[in-house]
Amino acid sequence: MSETSGAIREPAVAPDLEAAMAHALELALRGPAWTANPQVGCVILDAAGRVIAEGWHRGAGTPHAEVAALSHLPAGAAAGATAVVTLEPCNHNGRTGPCSETLLAAGVARVVYAVSDPSAEAAGGGARLAAGGVDVQAGVLAPEVEEALHAWLTSARLRRPHVTAKWAASLDGRIAAADGSSQWITGDAARADVHRLRGSAGAILVGSGTVLADDPSLTARDADGALLEHQPHAVVLGRRPVPEDAAVRRHPAGFTAYPGDDLHAVLADLWHKGIRTVFVEGGPTIVSALARAGLIDEFVVYLAPLLLGGPKLALDDLGVGTLAHALPLDLVSAERIGSDLRVVARPRALPHSPEED
Ligand SMILES: NC(=O)c1ccc[n+]([C@@H]2O[C@H](COP(=O)([O-])OP(=O)(O)OC[C@H]3O[C@@H](n4cnc5c(N)ncnc54)[C@H](OP(=O)(O)O)[C@@H]3O)[C@@H](O)[C@H]2O)c1
Repeated sequence: MSETSGAIREPAVAPDLEAAMAHALELALRGPAWTANPQVGCVILDAAGRVIAEGWHRGAGTPHAEVAALSHLPAGAAAGATAVVTLEPCNHNGRTGPCSETLLAAGVARVVYAVSDPSAEAAGGGARLAAGGVDVQAGVLAPEVEEALHAWLTSARLRRPHVTAKWAASLDGRIAAADGSSQWITGDAARADVHRLRGSAGAILVGSGTVLADDPSLTARDADGALLEHQPHAVVLGRRPVPEDAAVRRHPAGFTAYPGDDLHAVLADLWHKGIRTVFVEGGPTIVSALARAGLIDEFVVYLAPLLLGGPKLALDDLGVGTLAHALPLDLVSAERIGSDLRVVARPRALPHSPEED
């Protein structure tokens, strides 16, 4: 592949660049997963390929990863260096200036990134850098970074929060016994895993049926019941009012009741409030409604080794009358968690064209 000035190169990946990108991804994941901004990591390499600085983004309103990394270097020290960043440097004036301009001003010779920024406001940093004479290389470790940032990237592409539906079921797909009792189908390890996922979500959402049946607190807690550092905002949907003494009314991150059934409007409102990930722990009615509307991006299903039989199925009618109309899913993982099984699946991906980014 020829190196044309002003163009973004396809990867011709040196092992040291992959190692640097893997490190940048580790750094990225130190940042919070629940804010409106993506988790981003950056490593600065000198001409000999040695790491001279690193940084990561700590959430909306704080320096971007590239700026955080460069801040560790004296003026001029990044001249001729390579910046390895998990996400295409931004090209917009948000609360901080465009990273493309910061990198140009620092005099870096090369910028390597994994994934293009799909958000309309921030995209174009790669092209700006290339136009400024920087050697720009995109796509290094793209599958790994794409997977790690799956939720944020999905939300940026769809311009609504990424939605995960979680339920716990018996091996025969029941989420409650015939009398409605459902606490606790799964064991301690699975419940701890759920709290970990709650603690990385922007919001946790249920229908009024779950509030009335179970009075859940919808908080993220550790094994001793103590609140985790981050609490997702609690959201309840439905016309029936949330009782005055409901536990969710005392949620430490606050709660919002949407008295209706317009799922698109609720997700749009949450998006405008800066929420990028929604963890749905409702019952079969709300989860089925979201599935029918094509609004679930990931299913996390805990299967306990017990049989309940009876009518309390995980999902209602999805409008699937024949097998050919089933909602096809891609299996992401199937893992034993303590005495239970956790299955993660996503609606089958349509072929993705880079032009969509
Ligand atoms: N095992 C598990 O993982 C698990 C998890 C959660 C719940 N559960 C069990 O599930 C049962 C409760 O089930 P559920 O289905 O009643 O709870 P749900 O799905 O959480 O709540 C259903 C309610 O959501 C509201 N809603 C808002 N928008 C809607 C829309 N677009 N479409 C349909 N409904 C909408 C409606 O409330 P209004 O009628 O007020 O308008 C509806 O009645 C309980 O037995 C609970 O223990 C089990």
